[in-house]
Amino acid sequence: MPRRNKITIVGAGNVGATAAHWAVQQELGDVVLVDIKEGLPQGKALDLAESGPVMGFDSNLVGTNAYDATEGSDVVVITAGVPRRKDPVTGQFTSRDELVDINRKIVGGVTRELAQRSPNAVLICVSNPLDAMCHVMLAESGFPHQRVLGMAGVLDTARYKTFIAMELGVSVEDIHGMVLGGHGDTMVPLPSHTSVAGIPLRELMAQDKIDAIIERTRKGGGEIVGLLGYSGYYAPAAAAVAMVESIVRDKKRVLPCACLCKGEYGYENLFLGVPAVLGAGGVDKIIEMELGEKEKAMLEISANAVREVVSLLPYGK
Ligand code: NAI
Ligand code: 2OP
Repeated sequence: MPRRNKITIVGAGNVGATAAHWAVQQELGDVVLVDIKEGLPQGKALDLAESGPVMGFDSNLVGTNAYDATEGSDVVVITAGVPRRKDPVTGQFTSRDELVDINRKIVGGVTRELAQRSPNAVLICVSNPLDAMCHVMLAESGFPHQRVLGMAGVLDTARYKTFIAMELGVSVEDIHGMVLGGHGDTMVPLPSHTSVAGIPLRELMAQDKIDAIIERTRKGGGEIVGLLGYSGYYAPAAAAVAMVESIVRDKKRVLPCACLCKGEYGYENLFLGVPAVLGAGGVDKIIEMELGEKEKAMLEISANAVREVVSLLPYGK
């Protein structure tokens, strides 16, 4: 009898608990929710399980402060860490890069716990600063790079598509496009590869409007922090679960993910958002699209921003 997929989500906070919600609603597998806060993962898992009879899903949910129940996971999503917050005194937002020192210790410790219990899992990082934390996961797990990836491009692309659909007054379903690069203000939306039901975006929208959407996309995370005082979680969780779905169902979707580049796009041993084919073994392959000179230059700026954060780590140099 085929066994159910096991999906472990570490961090039962905003993104983790919401990811568990989307995952069980789609019956992607059984979910183990882990957090250091006592009662939090247990309470979220039980509450969510109790919605099963109403919503009509029968995924099993376990909430725990330990790692035993994670054994043999197929996919792991790591959201553990400290999110960006608005300082109540100065009004300043924590930058993604400032999170590096705290989160590398959290992500490193969590990765070691998981890797020994689920040596065949695909690891998806959500914790920020995203691209740098992928380097931490790769180094601490010792996994092949195809099974270590980060979620950012699906979220950044979703924001980009949302803004285009809002501007044009059309369905988001018909917007196709991609955002590459690091998860930061230098990310690279690609208007030359964006279409609306096959119609090139540039035939439908003036350049100044496209530029405004690119800018809003780059600052999309900060826009939500500005409104809520903490970072977004519905869209980030949905994006992570889209990656989980492609892996557990071996769908081979082409999704922009933080992957370790080994020569692709001219980058060596650097995690960067690139289009990846996601299947049961993680990254099947990275697709190399043809970029214009301006896009290549923007990707280089973004890669340099990632390198700067990675250089703060004791790995990946
Ligand atoms: P949150 O604060 O709501 O949840 C984080 C959870 O991690 C907390 O419940 C905390 O107790 C737990 N945690 C901390 N240390 C832990 C440890 N050692 N082991 C297990 N659990 C631990 O934060 P939120 O909003 O869920 O964000 C989580 C992370 O995801 C942050 O780093 C945030 O910046 C990042 N993020 C990344 C996005 C992306 O596009 N890659 C999008 C949104 C958030
Ligand atoms: C976001 O983009 C904070 O990285 C997080 O929403």
